[in-house]
Parts: sequence; structure tokens; C-alpha cells
Amino acid sequence: MQIITQKQELLRHVEACKKKNLTIGLVPTMGALHEGHASLVKRCVSENQVTVVSVFVNPTQFNNQQDLIKYPRTLERDADLLSHIGVDYVFAPSPEEMYTAQEMTQPFAFDFAGLDQVMEGKMRPGHFNGVVQVVSRLFYLVQPDRAYFGEKDFQQLCIIHHMVERSPLKTTFGSLKIVDCPIVREKSGLALSSRNERLSEEQKKIALGISQTLFASQEWAKTMDVKAVEKKVVDTINAIPGLEVEYFQIVDQTSLQPATSFHHAIGCVTVYCGEVRLIDNMKYSV
Ligand code: PAF
Repeated sequence: MQIITQKQELLRHVEACKKKNLTIGLVPTMGALHEGHASLVKRCVSENQVTVVSVFVNPTQFNNQQDLIKYPRTLERDADLLSHIGVDYVFAPSPEEMYTAQEMTQPFAFDFAGLDQVMEGKMRPGHFNGVVQVVSRLFYLVQPDRAYFGEKDFQQLCIIHHMVERSPLKTTFGSLKIVDCPIVREKSGLALSSRNERLSEEQKKIALGISQTLFASQEWAKTMDVKAVEKKVVDTINAIPGLEVEYFQIVDQTSLQPATSFHHAIGCVTVYCGEVRLIDNMKYSV
């Protein structure tokens, strides 16, 4: 496995793979890798001849500077994990290697067709502009056949599908397949996240209330309507000392607009556990 920090070097390797007609899979990450990432990477390794994992804490997608500063950076540990699961290249550039000074400060313009106006996009203005900026750049550099994203960041996944399949960028990334990977949970139910590293053992126990409530909501959905389930989820989580819901919305899985029934719906939640902002979601199959 090679660790690459320069775009030009990455391009040279990509060109060499393309000449040999090797299929390339990409797993974009911000590092602080856990079993959830490992499951994406293992799938990528099994489905492609060459696997590239990017490890880049993308400054343009953080609208909270404290969050950016506190984001765990563990490249050595990440590289060790990746070297044991068959990765060929780790791309770990500096912000200056990825962006010009202007790109770093000027919001990336993109037509989200409204997908950025709800939930995460509403709470974190500009966040998805940064995500599309970095992901599109990685796609240009790596030219992957497949790219792997986790369903935990469901709105991000929807936006990436929109970018590749419906936005004007689809002509550039036409043949690229986005592979949706299910949420990986601890045995307890807690969704794996790099942010869990910032939770104390006590907070990890408290945070279980989030997934437990979401699983319970699948049952509630059998007898209650959408609005009533939304209220019950919020009330149940807020009643747990140490947790505070930022939003919980049941939306259509494609348009992300408020759902009126549970058909093709997903409930997306963001909860503060102390200072740590956790997200999770649950699909409904009623
Ligand atoms: O989901 C993430 O970790 C990031 O948003 C991504 C896709 C790697 C872009 O920085």
C-alpha cells in the first residue's frame, strides 16, 4: 500500500491503472477510521481491482471552526488499518494541496435542486457545498468506476446521487456507480461514527437511547401517523438526561421532502450528547 500526498503523483498512478484497464474503487473518508469505514473498504476491495481510500479532513465542509479543530486526525492508525484490508493507495493531501486560497474561502457553487435546504443543510449552511466540492474533486482525480458511501450520512448520499445522476456534472461522472453501504452499528445499536471517540463511556451508554428510540419508532409507525411518530421520537430522546434533539424529520428517501406516509420514508435525527453532535437514521417499511 502506498500513501500519496500529491495530486500529480495520484494522477500518475491512476493513469497507469487505466492503461491496464483495471477497475478502480474509491472510498472517500475524513479519517479516524472505524469498523464502519472498514466495511466500506472491504466491499470496495472485493468489487474492484484497485482500491483508493482518501483520508482528508475537508475544511470547506465545516461551518463550525471548533468542530474542524477538534476533528480527530489519526493518519498513522488509519494507514495501519487500511494496509491490513487490501487497500492499494491512501490519498492523504494537505488542504493546500487540494485547494487554492480562493477555493478554501469561496463557497463552492452547485445547484442542489433543494436537497440542501432541509435537515443537515438547514442546520449547517454551506456544509454540502464543501462536500460536493471535495467529492467532485476526488472523482476528477481518481476517476473511479465505483465510489462507496455510508447510509449513516443519508442526506449526503442523496446529494452525491443527485450530483452524479441528475446534476450537470452527470456528463462528467456518467459511468461512475455510487454504492450505498448500510449503517454499521455496535452490538448495542449505537451507529459507528468517528465522533463516538469524543464520547465518555458514560455518554456512550446514554447515546444508546438514540438508536433504541429509532428502532422503537419502526413499531410505532405501524399504528401512528408520521407527525405523531416524529413527536414521540423527539419527546422520548429529550426525556433522556444528557441528550438533546436538534431535529428529527421523517422524509421521502429520494426528495428529502417531509413524508406524508411511511412509504419509501426515512427518519433522520441529529442529537447532541453533551457537546458531541451525533446523527442516525431509520428506514420505514410500513
Ligand atoms: O462522509 C464523510 O466522511 C465526508 O463528508 C466525505 C464524504 C469524506 C467528504 O469529505
